[in-house]
Amino acid sequence: MTASNIAKAIAAFERTIIVNNSDFDRYIAGDDNALTPQAKKSMDLFINKAGCYSCHHGPNLTDNNYYNVGPKSEDLGRYNVTHNEADCGKFRTPGLRGLNFTGPYLHNGFEVTLEDVVHLYNVGGNAHPNKDPRLKPLGLTEDEELALVAFLRSMSGTPPKISQPMIP
Ligand code: HEC
Repeated sequence: MTASNIAKAIAAFERTIIVNNSDFDRYIAGDDNALTPQAKKSMDLFINKAGCYSCHHGPNLTDNNYYNVGPKSEDLGRYNVTHNEADCGKFRTPGLRGLNFTGPYLHNGFEVTLEDVVHLYNVGGNAHPNKDPRLKPLGLTEDEELALVAFLRSMSGTPPKISQPMIP
């Protein structure tokens, strides 16, 4: 049992977790009624006013890049790999599928609910020298915050079936 084998085992497991039958997927596939009017409005927020789409895009809603989004944390993140000061506190953009089942959120689980995460973005994250310039107060109303949460939930689909019990 080595660290590298453990990482491979976890990666093999994670590749079996596929969430692709969400309301969002049905909407993109042409079912206009798959999203609630609120979720449709917030798709526009996600792309434009809130700017989430600039990092969370593509089939899994991630650009696979590393950023500091101002989480409450002193973790070094990407720096541990590159030893480059500019990478301190940067983490890879996670995909946004199945979020209903994967809380708590961010790399350290510090944000308990999706409402908390969206609020963190709305206030522009916590101060950090490497915080991405896109993290600034967004001026979302309370209704707009809730609409974004509804949109994130619309991408959850049903939880993947685990073919074997996790604990024998
Ligand atoms: C500058 C790129 C960037 C932008 C813009 C951005 N994100 Fe993120 N997002 C990230 C990164 C990087 C993380 C991981 C941060 C961490 O773990 O410390 C993340 C984490 C998240 C998470 C937690 C997912 C999980 O599984 O823990 C959610 C939810 C999320 N973002 C939603 C949003 C929403 C909604 C917006 C728009 C208001 C947004 N993001 C804007 C890069 C970005």
